[in-house]
Amino acid sequence: MVDQRSIRVALLYLLLLLLFESTFEQQVQQQRLSSGVEFTALFELRSSLGLRSRDWPRKVHPCSSWNGIRCENGSVIGINISGFRRTRVGKQNPQFAVNSLVNFTHLMSFNASRFMLPGSIPDWFGQRLSTLQVLDLRSCNVTGVLPSSMGNLTNLTSLYLSDNRLTGQIPSTLRQLLSLLVLDLSKNSLTGSIPSSFGSLRNLTSLDISSNSLRGSIPPGLGALSKLQTLNLSVNGLTSSIPSQLGDLDSLVDLDLSSNGLSGSVPQDLRKLRNLQRMVLGNNGLSGSLPVNLFPTPSQLHVVVLRNNRFIGNLPQVLWSIPGLNLLDISDNNFTGELPTALDNNAIAAVLDMSRNKFYGGLTTVLRRFSSINLSGNYFEGRVPDYMLDNASLTSNCLQNVSNQRTLIECVSFYTEKGLSFDNFGRPNATVPAAAESGNNNRRVIILAAVLGGAGLIVLLLLLLLLVLLCVRRRNTANHRGIGVEPVPTGGTPPSPGLAINFSSLGDLFTYQQLLQATGDFSDANLIKHGHSGDLFRGVLEDGLPVVIKRIDLQSIKKEAYLLELDFFSKVSHTRVVTLLGHCLEKEDEKLLVYKYMPNGDLSSSLYRKNNLEDDSLQSLDWITRLKIAIGVAEGLSFLHHECTPPLVHRDIQASSILLDDKFEVRLGSLSEVCAQESDGHQNRISRLLRLPQSSEQGSSGSSTALCSYDVYCFGKVLLGLVTGKLDMSASSGTQMKEWLEQTLPCISIYDKELVTKILDPSLLVDEDLLEEVWAMAIVARSCLNPKASRRPPMRYILKALENPLRVVREDNSSSARLRATSSRGSWNAALFGSWRQSLSDVTIIPAASTTKAEGGSSLKQPVIPEGSAIRAEGGSSFKHSGTTGSRGSAQKDGGDNSSSWRRYSKEIFPEPL
Ligand SMILES: *[C@@H]1O[C@H](CO)[C@@H](O)[C@H](O)[C@H]1NC(C)=O
Ligand SMILES: *[C@@H]1O[C@H](CO)[C@@H](O)[C@H](O)[C@H]1NC(C)=O
Ligand SMILES: *[C@@H]1O[C@H](CO)[C@@H](O)[C@H](O)[C@H]1NC(C)=O
Ligand SMILES: *[C@@H]1O[C@H](CO)[C@@H](O)[C@H](O)[C@H]1NC(C)=O
Ligand SMILES: *[C@@H]1O[C@H](CO)[C@@H](O)[C@H](O)[C@H]1NC(C)=O
Ligand SMILES: *[C@@H]1O[C@H](CO)[C@@H](O)[C@H](O)[C@H]1NC(C)=O
Ligand SMILES: *[C@@H]1O[C@H](CO)[C@@H](O)[C@H](O)[C@H]1NC(C)=O
Repeated sequence: MVDQRSIRVALLYLLLLLLFESTFEQQVQQQRLSSGVEFTALFELRSSLGLRSRDWPRKVHPCSSWNGIRCENGSVIGINISGFRRTRVGKQNPQFAVNSLVNFTHLMSFNASRFMLPGSIPDWFGQRLSTLQVLDLRSCNVTGVLPSSMGNLTNLTSLYLSDNRLTGQIPSTLRQLLSLLVLDLSKNSLTGSIPSSFGSLRNLTSLDISSNSLRGSIPPGLGALSKLQTLNLSVNGLTSSIPSQLGDLDSLVDLDLSSNGLSGSVPQDLRKLRNLQRMVLGNNGLSGSLPVNLFPTPSQLHVVVLRNNRFIGNLPQVLWSIPGLNLLDISDNNFTGELPTALDNNAIAAVLDMSRNKFYGGLTTVLRRFSSINLSGNYFEGRVPDYMLDNASLTSNCLQNVSNQRTLIECVSFYTEKGLSFDNFGRPNATVPAAAESGNNNRRVIILAAVLGGAGLIVLLLLLLLLVLLCVRRRNTANHRGIGVEPVPTGGTPPSPGLAINFSSLGDLFTYQQLLQATGDFSDANLIKHGHSGDLFRGVLEDGLPVVIKRIDLQSIKKEAYLLELDFFSKVSHTRVVTLLGHCLEKEDEKLLVYKYMPNGDLSSSLYRKNNLEDDSLQSLDWITRLKIAIGVAEGLSFLHHECTPPLVHRDIQASSILLDDKFEVRLGSLSEVCAQESDGHQNRISRLLRLPQSSEQGSSGSSTALCSYDVYCFGKVLLGLVTGKLDMSASSGTQMKEWLEQTLPCISIYDKELVTKILDPSLLVDEDLLEEVWAMAIVARSCLNPKASRRPPMRYILKALENPLRVVREDNSSSARLRATSSRGSWNAALFGSWRQSLSDVTIIPAASTTKAEGGSSLKQPVIPEGSAIRAEGGSSFKHSGTTGSRGSAQKDGGDNSSSWRRYSKEIFPEPL
């Protein structure tokens, strides 16, 4: 019984199972297309697109067995041919041939991405495919314009058309696609502007119109897209600024506005984007500083790209402590500031690119969290910490012991502008060559390298020549010693001073406002003069102290000059140097230096002054004052040349650089040209040989301006100006000055006191005693003006001579006295007269003059005509022959010989014994 029942149950079960099977079969049957129209349409599509049997096999039912066909209730609702390949025949003439789509009345999704559909989207798409929810034609090679009928596909939730060749404008009818969640029109050639009506697409979560040719501005209406998570408008031609309404995009995760022409600053309101993970604003013209609270905490940010804009100012500190940040690219801006020191170091793999900004200060532990670091092109200083990655890029900074860093002058000037002091690459301050110097050296190195590289043979020859020259020179030197000439100090000089400016020794710090007030807003009435290193204004400080303020406009004046001056004042202070009371460096382009006021102005303006208000007659400085001034200048220069190590060269000695206080005590001004004396080593001689022809660095006197002997030459002109009253000549150069020297110098002779009265300033009243002093000063002036730099006396001897003028003339106005002086080598007047004698020994080179040697002590009866090769090599210029004054017999003797201007030149510069 039980068995029978169980068999019946089993049978029933079997029956049920069969019944179920048949209903299943029936259901499969229902999946078949209810209408033959769609069946036919599928085959038409298959053939018009040239699809392969592998994907859409002929003998099976499409709904069940064709790839990418989805059916529902006997209708095709989805067609996905993404990535399909065409048959060989189909490939021959690919077309946008999808006409049969109109017969799928329930089609919700058509995805043909990566399937070539060359041709344009037909107009009927919008009218006939109204059931479509997803249209994906990415990378289909679709061309033409987007038909405005697309706006009728109101059930569309996703429209992907990226990476095609669509042209024309974006139809504004797309605003009707209210169900749209994703709109991707990227990577096409769309033009025109973003329709402002897009704000109506309230359900949109992703809007990507990147990489087109859109113009115009970002419509503020986009701010209404409160569900938007992705906004990508990058790589277009969008202009104007970022609308602050974008801050209302509450859901935004990914914002990419990069590579447009956006300008203006980043709106504060973007701080409201609390869900933002990517902020990409690179490659625009954005400017200003970032709002301090731009990045809220906690922040979801992973990526911040602000590269290649024109941002300035500091980075919001919080950026450094966002835990998830793994790309920070702020390169190519003008961000500045120092790295924060102690912050949480969530060491995660992250990329930091802050290259080409203006960050400065030391490297800090904040860098530990990054696995890739580019800091190049900033102004970081100090040592590189141990934890710095080997592959970190650190070039073009101011770091210690790292190759390819900025130059000292760049670093110093940057830090100076910030009002900070530079660590000088960690080197002791005194061993770094001065800027002017290093520039020269670099140029020399380049010249040398070029010559060496280009023509080694020529160098070899030159070296040989040099060797010969050096031998000759050495022999000459020996000769000079032999006749008792004190050699001008040459040879290796100690290293030049560095440019590490110590601001504490630069006087007070003034605010710009204070100095505006002091000078009446730099009014013209207070302008003293336009100097070559800046405009000088008189001013009165709040406490009533009169000052002189130099305004340096860095747009027109080289930064180096003012830095050199600051450097000078930070190291040198002397009673013969004008006092720097303070400075104001707060302005980027305008630097102000404040000096003590000099009641008597400069020498050029005080040599002659109006007697009093009523009387127009001029009163000139008396001789005692002139001598006092000459001694004062000599003291100042002697300090620079002999008491500074290395010796400093003023390079701008002229009447207007000589400032006078109320007691006519000298204070040297115009210190922006001061530099350390060039070393005079062998390399220097080589480079001088190579420096063809004479460069502008050469002074008018035929020597480098970076040598003390150049100052001596300029001082000679000032002395001559004091004697003759023609001080303006000390500032001039060129033919005018040459003519003047040509006329004046012949009237200075160690053998004839009276001759000097011919050139004496007529306004000077001098008695016989004073005339000797005048004569002495004239003689000193003439020896300073020796065209041969090495024969000019050193400043300390000039000072001695001016302090003892009578010894100049009384001890050395007879030949026997000269011999005495000769024998006492090392005495100041030996050095002074060495140049005179030197000229005579030069003279002995030529046979004609050899009969009238000076050495013998016999006075020369005939004018001498030096023709030494040394003179020809050194003299940078020749004087025109006037034939009026001086040189007496020689004028006649030489009168007809116009070809030999060198001879005249030498003869007139050197004194002729009577
Ligand atoms: C759509 O189907 C109808 C009826 O079968 C047919 O006449 C028409 O040609 C089809 N249209 C297209 C574009 O295939
Ligand atoms: C759009 O979709 C809704 C439901 O999702 C449907 O009722 C409507 O008929 C569709 N519109 C068209 C034109 O197919
Ligand atoms: C797109 O079409 C152009 C011209 O019609 C053709 O040169 C190009 O190769 C096509 N691109 C692809 C990926 O087939
Ligand atoms: C399609 O849109 C156009 C305007 O773009 C309109 O004139 C037309 O009536 C619409 N057709 C349908 C079927 O909705
Ligand atoms: C937008 O989305 C909401 C919620 O997802 C939905 O209720 C609404 O119908 C959508 N609007 C349109 C126009 O599709
Ligand atoms: C940075 O500022 C300088 C002037 O200080 C300017 O010349 C330069 O173009 C700026 N760089 C950028 C990227 O804005
Ligand atoms: C260099 O000068 C700076 C500022 O003038 C100073 O802080 C620093 O200690 C000096 N360095 C050396 C090695 O003298």
